[in-house]
Amino acid sequence: MDITFFYIFLIGVLVSWFHIYASLGLLILFGIYWIATIPVNRIVRVGELGYYFGEEKHSDRIKDRLVARVARLRIKGDLPPVFPNGWFCIADSRDLKKGTIQPITFNGEQLSLVRSHSGEAFLIDSYCPHLGANFNIGGKVINDNCVQCPFHGWVFNAETGKCVNIPYDDGSIPEKAKVTTWVIAEKNTSIFVWYHADGYAPTWEIPDILEVQEGDWVFQGRTEHEILCHPQEIPENGADIAHLNYLHLHGVQEGNNVTRIPMNNLKPTIQHYWNGKWEAEAEPNAHIGAMELDQHMLFNNYIIPFTSTKLKAVQLGPGIVQMMFDFGIFGKGVVFQYVTSEEPMFQRVRFTLYAKVPRWYAKFVLIAEANQFERDIFIWANKKYIKNPLYVKNDGPIHKHRRWFSKFYTENSPTLNKDGSVSHRAKSVLDCQLPTITLHDGHVTLYENLLQTEYRGVVQPGKPYTIDIYLSQSENTDYVIESCVFNNRTTFITQNGCMKIDGIFIDKWETTNYGTPGSIKRTIIHFVAPESSIRVHCLLRLIQCCSCAEKSCEQPLKYRDFPYTPYQLVMSHPKATLLPLPGQGLKAPSDLIPMTPQLQVPIQRNSSKTIWEEWWFWLVIILAFLLFCCIPCLIGICCYFKKRKNDKKKVTIFKKDHQGCLTTEDNKSVGKVSIINDTKHTLNMNNNPTGGYHHNHHNPTNLDPNMLKRNSYISQSSGSFINDDFETSMSVTRAARIVNNPHSTQPFHRPPGQIPEHIVNSVRNHLASSSNHPQFSPVRQELNNYSEITLKKGINLPPLNHNQHQQTLRRTEVSRQLGNESMFI
Ligand code: FES
Ligand SMILES: [Fe+2]
Repeated sequence: MDITFFYIFLIGVLVSWFHIYASLGLLILFGIYWIATIPVNRIVRVGELGYYFGEEKHSDRIKDRLVARVARLRIKGDLPPVFPNGWFCIADSRDLKKGTIQPITFNGEQLSLVRSHSGEAFLIDSYCPHLGANFNIGGKVINDNCVQCPFHGWVFNAETGKCVNIPYDDGSIPEKAKVTTWVIAEKNTSIFVWYHADGYAPTWEIPDILEVQEGDWVFQGRTEHEILCHPQEIPENGADIAHLNYLHLHGVQEGNNVTRIPMNNLKPTIQHYWNGKWEAEAEPNAHIGAMELDQHMLFNNYIIPFTSTKLKAVQLGPGIVQMMFDFGIFGKGVVFQYVTSEEPMFQRVRFTLYAKVPRWYAKFVLIAEANQFERDIFIWANKKYIKNPLYVKNDGPIHKHRRWFSKFYTENSPTLNKDGSVSHRAKSVLDCQLPTITLHDGHVTLYENLLQTEYRGVVQPGKPYTIDIYLSQSENTDYVIESCVFNNRTTFITQNGCMKIDGIFIDKWETTNYGTPGSIKRTIIHFVAPESSIRVHCLLRLIQCCSCAEKSCEQPLKYRDFPYTPYQLVMSHPKATLLPLPGQGLKAPSDLIPMTPQLQVPIQRNSSKTIWEEWWFWLVIILAFLLFCCIPCLIGICCYFKKRKNDKKKVTIFKKDHQGCLTTEDNKSVGKVSIINDTKHTLNMNNNPTGGYHHNHHNPTNLDPNMLKRNSYISQSSGSFINDDFETSMSVTRAARIVNNPHSTQPFHRPPGQIPEHIVNSVRNHLASSSNHPQFSPVRQELNNYSEITLKKGINLPPLNHNQHQQTLRRTEVSRQLGNESMFI
């Protein structure tokens, strides 16, 4: 097989292997890419974890029944209220795209989270006040921040909740056509809702983590767990220091299933060591509890490098924990833990890690953390709440934590009844119907004409009429009349709702049944019209509370620090209007912290990426890998060309054999020029027409200059043998062929180069004697140009051609290749 084919075959094999290696390599690269770049996204649904019924597997149907049974039995405990007050996370900002609606379940309410086209987020009740369709199913975001109902197309402003368009009506929109809005805030790339059972506006803010807001710490992954337990159980875990070195003692490699971990072994080979403390802060930060925790992983009591973490966890109210981590040489970061009650005894717990650490390390941390957290789920999902635990000395500050946590309940917080129902609904602090003011014909009583039929006829002076201030439900909202002015001149109701009775204004009545579901608030004033035009201007304080604004001329207001809003009601006959005072909306009084404004600046994400997240980094890795895979091919190719080059340089070495002849070792110098470095031992030969080698000693006539010239340059035959001065050169092959059979035209069949020594000597003599022979002077002259034989390299010559012109060309080529300093032989 020709050597060239062998090399081609070799390269083909290498390329095939390359493809296999490349495929495997790309697979490995993808694995590395996944580990190094894709964030954790672990979502564990209710029932998937934490329930162990003695058997490994149950069908879903049986499992659901068992889960429900465990949950039902467990409720018999004496539980705190099920919906504490505070901020609660309802969504990740990244999940809420512009112009979309996301369904939210919070505190047993079905809500719709809306992102306007301009990027602002709003939270509204999901049910349309028209006929109750659900905005989450087919509702559309239109006109930037409006939601269109999928049933009849009514359009509601998501910011105010008011209906702004009824597509098939004449333009008059009922005052009550309004959906409830909720107070929300967008912080640290999450969206939070404020809840307070007494209707308080937010009394504290969620602190910004600047590194997250500015994108310095990037999103590294998240976990989400659904847990059937009371919301207090989860934050209380932070103050339960004693459980850390038992439930969380075994290394994360043991997994999360507490029924399988050998908990009785208190000296496992790989273990976690925990040390921490918990403290509540004083006013005005009484909503904060702070925990400090050190964690080390130990192997046979030696700390495993890079596994230690220092953590400072700040509990912000019942639903938010910000854990600031120090990962040592890997950097720093924060884990947000958010606990949100979606239903009574149903919690959604989100962990989100933001850090500037390698992604693979973040993954390890988050998965290890989730493993440990899931051990707690096994406990929470099955335990009952013990109101008065049996504390021992080293139980840690659990009782302190319970005292602190009780701040987040009030008397109005919804509680769980024994039958599993909730005492009352959890409402938005903005969930109130605004009062209206209307005019009635005649003197109506407190409980008549509740349909608010407004009198639109002509007012006749001297006739009886009624002013009606009406609030359709007073469960969470109340109002206090600060003043009422008639026709811009007569103040007939003064501060605290006291009425001046004169010949025009006769009496005033007000309902007293507050704070119960379905109750109304109404104030009616009987008067006699002094003239035909009537304009009543009332200033009201709107109070968000329930059954608390008991007021009369004799009593001061009970709860002056309640959030309230001044409203003015203006009734001009025949039409009443409700106008908020300029620049005033719902707001907290000055002694409370103002409501957290929504984040206006679009959140910058990943503005500071780690090198792992740069696309070019992975391109470089892939190219480097491909190059690495090419190395065998490149080595093979290099070897091939090196060998070729060496072959070119190969010197035909002449040796004496046992007969005293000079021999060459091989005939592989086909097409190449052999090199002999020493001019003193150069051979000169010519063919003898009668056959056999014949030196041309003193017989220059035998020498054909043309042939010599030709032979001088023609050395492509096998076993080339060319002398230094070209006078008497000839092909060894040719000579050998002639020796064998001078008439044969067949190729050479035997090893070349057997040259009797006497020929060599003769040639040497010939050189000495005939070097000045005039016949060769042109050739000599020409060759003198090449002077000394110092040739060190081989030269490929074009094929032999007897055409004189071609020979000239060949010579030119040889000269060109050799240059002036070298000479081929
Ligand atoms: S139910 Fe929403 S528009 Fe009719
Ligand atoms: Fe725990």
